[in-house]
Amino acid sequence: MSNSQNFLLRNIWYYALPSYQIKPGKMVSRTFLGEPVLLVRSQDGKVSALRDICPHRAVPLSCGRFDGQEVECCYHGWRFDPAGRCTAIPSLVAGQETDLSRFNVKSYEIREAQGNIWIYMADPDNPQPPDSEIEIPVIAGFEERSPQLVEVMRFPCFVDHAVTGLMDPAHSPYVHQVWWWRSAKLNEEARQFDPSPYGFTMRRHQLSPSMGKLYKFVGNGIPETEISFRLPGIRVEQTTSGNQRVCNLTTVTPISDTETEVTFTLYWTHSWLGGFKPLLRSLIRTFLGQDRMVVEKQQIGLKYNPILRLIKDSDIQAQWYYQLKREYSQSMAEGREFQNPVKGQILRWRG
Ligand code: FES
Ligand SMILES: [Fe+2]
Repeated sequence: MSNSQNFLLRNIWYYALPSYQIKPGKMVSRTFLGEPVLLVRSQDGKVSALRDICPHRAVPLSCGRFDGQEVECCYHGWRFDPAGRCTAIPSLVAGQETDLSRFNVKSYEIREAQGNIWIYMADPDNPQPPDSEIEIPVIAGFEERSPQLVEVMRFPCFVDHAVTGLMDPAHSPYVHQVWWWRSAKLNEEARQFDPSPYGFTMRRHQLSPSMGKLYKFVGNGIPETEISFRLPGIRVEQTTSGNQRVCNLTTVTPISDTETEVTFTLYWTHSWLGGFKPLLRSLIRTFLGQDRMVVEKQQIGLKYNPILRLIKDSDIQAQWYYQLKREYSQSMAEGREFQNPVKGQILRWRG
């Protein structure tokens, strides 16, 4: 892919951060798609997000205070409510009536569900309100639950490389060579894929023996799994074994053009799996760390802006990702309905 394709998708929901990272009455300063964002959670629990720059003299609002209701800038004490409305300018004296709404700060739409906070990143040049068609994903079967395990990792790359790494079936034997994952022996795989909303789904299938090894301990019965991907970089893997279920939500959020945050969350129904949390966490850290390590090496070559070759069938999912992304941004630009470019088919690879 040439650099002209390196754009960030707008008018779409991105994973922002896990719910537990903002306590009531607290604020957190972050960067998403190169924009400084201040997230606050009011005392009643509602999360809101503002541009983290004071409209007066540009001091980050996060340098000030949040009293659970309003943010106060540390420089001249201007105050803003969680919707971004300017509510007070202390230096004004009687008779200096001022329309405070001229000093409002930009706010962002936020959704919180299942222990996750999502942010809607509108396109400043063509802002579209979030429509019900592309809502945040729901992790079926865990409606009222938060993930039991969350691991966040920064990747030093543009978002596309993190996404294509996530859906690359051919790298596992080379990058993830650890006993619990799989051996370096290549297995031939064939999987049916279908288009699904804003992405595609690898149809439910029994886990291959090497993968099954990983899940064998989670229940009786042969584990079956379904993996779906959707824009902008959301992967949901549902594995069932007997009547037990494990779900993995992995999200990819651009922090800037050169940094991407990958968040790995796990939900499970097994009451006893909690005892293995420290072990699971270290396995997941190792696993994500291996992906990050190869991405770091990839940066060495990418500096020279080479043309990258995609191979069939193992790179078809990556190709679909680029097609989906292009179609989404074109449909936004043309103000028309999104048309999923993915056609159902069987993909075969050795991996
Ligand atoms: S810079 Fe924020 S109040 Fe002046
Ligand atoms: Fe990987």
